[in-house]
Amino acid sequence: MAKKTVADIDVRGRKVLMRCDFNVPLDDDRNITSDDRIVKALPTITSVLDGGGALILMSHLGRPGGQKDEKFSLTPVAKRLSELLGKDVFFAGDCVGAEAKEKARALQPGDCMLLENLRFHKEETIKDKAAKEDAQLRKAKDDFAQELADIADVYVDDAFGTAHRDNASMYTVPMAMEGKPRVIGFLIEKELKFLGETLSNPERPFVAILGGAKVSDKIGVIENLIGKVDRIIIGGAMAYTFLKGRGKSIGKSLCEDDFVDKGQELLDQAADAGCEVVLPVDHCVVRKVEAGAPHRTAVGDIEPGFQAVDIGPMAAQNFAGKIADAKTIVWNGPMGIFEMPPFDKGTNAVALAVAAATEKGARSIIGGGDSASAVEKLGVQEKISHVSTGGGASLEFLEGKKFKCLEILDEK
Ligand code: 3PG
Repeated sequence: MAKKTVADIDVRGRKVLMRCDFNVPLDDDRNITSDDRIVKALPTITSVLDGGGALILMSHLGRPGGQKDEKFSLTPVAKRLSELLGKDVFFAGDCVGAEAKEKARALQPGDCMLLENLRFHKEETIKDKAAKEDAQLRKAKDDFAQELADIADVYVDDAFGTAHRDNASMYTVPMAMEGKPRVIGFLIEKELKFLGETLSNPERPFVAILGGAKVSDKIGVIENLIGKVDRIIIGGAMAYTFLKGRGKSIGKSLCEDDFVDKGQELLDQAADAGCEVVLPVDHCVVRKVEAGAPHRTAVGDIEPGFQAVDIGPMAAQNFAGKIADAKTIVWNGPMGIFEMPPFDKGTNAVALAVAAATEKGARSIIGGGDSASAVEKLGVQEKISHVSTGGGASLEFLEGKKFKCLEILDEK
């Protein structure tokens, strides 16, 4: 059943508490290096403000571990949001307590306020499982959520990037607001529509590209995609757990030894389902992982003492060829240590191949995080059909998991 959105409710004269994912990347001077997550929240924000609601925004930034830490303050986000909206954005220096309460009370229709980082309070990230087993934790989480719930008349969830978390603001707060309107924003609506339609009704060939360090992170995704996709391309350090299982020498490349057998099981499952799995045939290898390290190409086996840091040129060409005829593409995870050029060549080759296939008519989805920054760095993000704001969240969606924070929100 489709969820109600902000477009389905009247926010005029109401206090609207909206969970966003403003977990944006910052440089050492705390400048925002990509405002994508703020820009993508704007349609919902302006809809509430134009509709005469008074908006209270809340988010986390990073993992400050339940303590106030200026490094993780949301002040740069308030500043950027104010620039983007062309109006003042009020700021409360703590997400709960007297200041937040008073400032929320004073908001007028069309006003916008951002609360300081939710994760400055340890209650935000208490796991529901832990809270179930420990009454004190349950009470702490519930009390924190209740304080947030009490400042508003309406709850809006537009934090797709955090939809896989059971943070207090994602689940306990809307639970505490039962009886008041609880809806999704346009960003979540768009993400769910795109990811959902693509997975349930793909045009073929349907190609999945998976990268990143760990097979263990992607087992659920691979299991769910076998039988849905026609081809799975695997790069990044996770490829070496599969290659070791196939009897290849992988030198000192990263490998999860506990998952070598599972990797082979997945390859067998894929073969049984008629799903082609493409692994790198050559590798960019170094003796020591560091910027500017001397590197060379290893074809097939990797010598002892060497570590793969990227797919090799033949693999890059092969992967690009396997992407070229795709009509549906999902991509999550880089092909190597792409943040350390020149070990970004494989990831760049894949990004360009996905962009080229999309220009020829494929529908492409890129999971957030590293693959999203790769396309952004290359300036081809406009060519991609959908760059998700969720890294972990889009992965869990691809795993077929349900987001419990969304299940409790109002249905149309
Ligand atoms: C993300 O960037 O994936 C989201 O903001 C969630 O962050 P988290 O992994 O720290 O919960």
